[in-house]
Amino acid sequence: MGSVQKAKIAVLVSGGGTNLQALIDAQKSNIIKSGEIVLVVSNNPNAYAITRASLAGIPSVIVSKKELGSQEAFEEKLIGVLEENGIELIILAGFMSILSESFTSRYPKRIINVHPSLIPSFCGKGFYGLRVHEEALKKGVKVTGATVHYVNEIPDGGEIILQRSVSVKRNETPESLQQKVMRQAEWKILPKAAELVSNEIIKSRKVTKK
Ligand code: GAR
Repeated sequence: MGSVQKAKIAVLVSGGGTNLQALIDAQKSNIIKSGEIVLVVSNNPNAYAITRASLAGIPSVIVSKKELGSQEAFEEKLIGVLEENGIELIILAGFMSILSESFTSRYPKRIINVHPSLIPSFCGKGFYGLRVHEEALKKGVKVTGATVHYVNEIPDGGEIILQRSVSVKRNETPESLQQKVMRQAEWKILPKAAELVSNEIIKSRKVTKK
């Protein structure tokens, strides 16, 4: 990378943090080389993702909507934390809180999200976590997968960056399908997309400097 400064990444989490782990591992194995995770933000004080961050030596902060009382106060705090840390790329990795247009419009093409289906199937408000896989099984789809997309004001509506498909076998449960989608799709495409967008950020920085 020479003297080029890596894009500063914040990962926003709410739960187990297996996608955060995939990002940390990808950083170690140089799949992510244009960016560096400098901060983990959790809206849930009990998220195991926080432990994963500390085991990797990455600072974390808790920004709780419950404690702050409103969406406005929550987002204001979030923006403050991101600015203090000079964050250039925000990765939503199992972050279970919808961000308003006033937040997303501040960071065009600088927020990405991983969603556990092939968008535009099984996405939008109310489709998160296990529920996505329950609905996919109810519908009887034979193929599902994961999507990484830019985040805009429409839940799961921003431009698609990467997708990977996963086949649905007979006798699949929501839990088995969730594991399969994570293992075969999410943990692969999220680090790849993080590298792609970090690289874009570095390139755009060079252009503005000239
Ligand atoms: C992942 O499957 C992620 O795609 C999903 O929640 C899980 C979080 O797991 N996100 C959404 O449903 C967002 N709409 P993790 O905390 O182990 O990464």
